[in-house]
Amino acid sequence: DDARAATGSAFTFDEIEAGVDDKHHVAPGYDADVLLRWGDPLFADSPEFDPTKQSAQAQERQFGYNNDYVGYIPLDGSAEHGLLVVNHEYTNPHLMFPGLVTIVEGEAKQAPLSKEQVDVEMAAHGGTVVEIRKVSGKWQVVRDGKLNRRITSNTEIALSGPVAGHDRVKTNADPTGTKVIGTVNNCAGGVTPWGTYVMAEENIHGYFSGELPADHPEAANYKRLGIPEGAYEWAAHYDRFDLGKEPNEPNRFGWIVEVDVNDPNSVPKKRTAMGRFKHEGAESIVAKDGRVVFYLGDDERFDYVYKFVTTGKFNAEDRAANMDLLDDGTLYVAKFAEDGTLEWLPLVHGQGPLTAENGFASQADVLIGTRLAADLLGATKMDRPEDIQPNPTTGKVYVMLTNNSKRKAEQVDAANPRAENAFGHIIEIVEDGGDFTAAKGKWEVLLKCGDPSVAEVGATFSTATTANGWFGMPDNCAIDAAGRLWVSTDGQGPKATGRTDGLWAVDTEGEARATSKLFFRVPIGAEMCGPLFTPDDQTAFVAVQHPADGGEDWEPFGRPSYYEDLSTRWPDFKPDMPVRPSVVAITKQGGGKIAV
Ligand code: FEO
Ligand code: CA
Ligand code: CA
Ligand code: CA
Repeated sequence: DDARAATGSAFTFDEIEAGVDDKHHVAPGYDADVLLRWGDPLFADSPEFDPTKQSAQAQERQFGYNNDYVGYIPLDGSAEHGLLVVNHEYTNPHLMFPGLVTIVEGEAKQAPLSKEQVDVEMAAHGGTVVEIRKVSGKWQVVRDGKLNRRITSNTEIALSGPVAGHDRVKTNADPTGTKVIGTVNNCAGGVTPWGTYVMAEENIHGYFSGELPADHPEAANYKRLGIPEGAYEWAAHYDRFDLGKEPNEPNRFGWIVEVDVNDPNSVPKKRTAMGRFKHEGAESIVAKDGRVVFYLGDDERFDYVYKFVTTGKFNAEDRAANMDLLDDGTLYVAKFAEDGTLEWLPLVHGQGPLTAENGFASQADVLIGTRLAADLLGATKMDRPEDIQPNPTTGKVYVMLTNNSKRKAEQVDAANPRAENAFGHIIEIVEDGGDFTAAKGKWEVLLKCGDPSVAEVGATFSTATTANGWFGMPDNCAIDAAGRLWVSTDGQGPKATGRTDGLWAVDTEGEARATSKLFFRVPIGAEMCGPLFTPDDQTAFVAVQHPADGGEDWEPFGRPSYYEDLSTRWPDFKPDMPVRPSVVAITKQGGGKIAV
């Protein structure tokens, strides 16, 4: 608006210096307090974390590894008492298990994991639901909260929606095709308008090993998702991760998972109507007519932007009436035109090329092979779609496109305007008529990221953006209660950008548009996940993921094991304590709204 344009930036704080070190840093006048570390007890009976005595049993009662999405679900409408929901995306065994990595003739060698270590990894995946409360201005974990819960790679989860019970999701262990064990690689996510927690299953290919039987009908489907990658050693101990033994199991992963946090014994549901791909996140908004729209990114080079529109309408008066909204709706994939318009193409069996002749005999086939279906529709191949966030204040939608080193000059298009896109960009969408369910919209590039002082990079930050204020590799984002955009990054570092990842405040309106300021930064090796503002804008929760990670890219900081001389031992900085991914609560000293 005019007032905002006249005063420049919508954000009021003193920017910090970009750089690289072993600590976190926040803008002056703010506190950044570690709230939950990997291994912290979540229940009255949880053991204290002891890195030398790790067990799956202990880990199941403790905060998991590599916190990514952070959501807040108020209790009794409070901004100071609620449930924190946190995804635990993946594990870094070289940073978790003492002595796993040794240096042999100058080279790092990682030993095979024991079954116990695999079990710890599986228990460290998934999600956490934990009651938190603000007492005298500081957040505390309520260790005996009745709704506290861990979800892991061993939690029973129901397959729900059009794919449930289909032959392609039946296994030896589950001939019904409805009962999955576990969830993996929960990256970003969301909280629904009815107060459930949604977790996005992203890089599922890494968990599967082995080979499909010859001429298996899933071969093309799995190839499109890079399955199996065999990054994890779980298949050595659990048949379900071995394609030779359970060839249909991968079809039971790659979904959006919904958790009813009000009942700690509820069975989470994989909502198959929302498609199967490398789901980054699932942020939602209620449209004018009451239907609910979820924006979904598929994080891979040359993959797509999606949205899901529920068939039913949100009922604000009756929570129970919303509990199966995600089983019925239309999934769309985006086609960005050169003229700045875009079309949402429906992924509906029988429409256009999505027919039996093309390998889609039912809607279940369309959903299991979402990427293949979207390929046939001619969707726009994007530069790694990550978090996508609708802004309820302005009606605009922000798409984080993190980078794409493999885009060639001849593959450049208006929505992906740079070849070898090392630093990513952000697209802003306005749906037609301000209606989030619309089949068409307009879009423009809000920002091409990277260092604006290097002409070849072609970054488009405003001239008001300082040398600290620019960033690359946008990944997660948040809109605060004031309708302002905050962007967190994944992949910066001493070599890539001369700065660690962090949280940047990005103006979107008025003359200050495309101005960015650095608010918080992470220790070396970490990526910045979260971020999430409480409804009163007085707290920003951020998730510091994989601190100290990184191979040669992090030299001279990187070391392969915490029993070697590691780059950082954040956040404890104790010689007998490993580096620990943690959620941090940022508040203004003396209280008040952030950046106001
Ligand atoms: Fe898990 Fe696309 O980041
Ligand atoms: Ca991400
Ligand atoms: Ca987000
Ligand atoms: Ca990322």
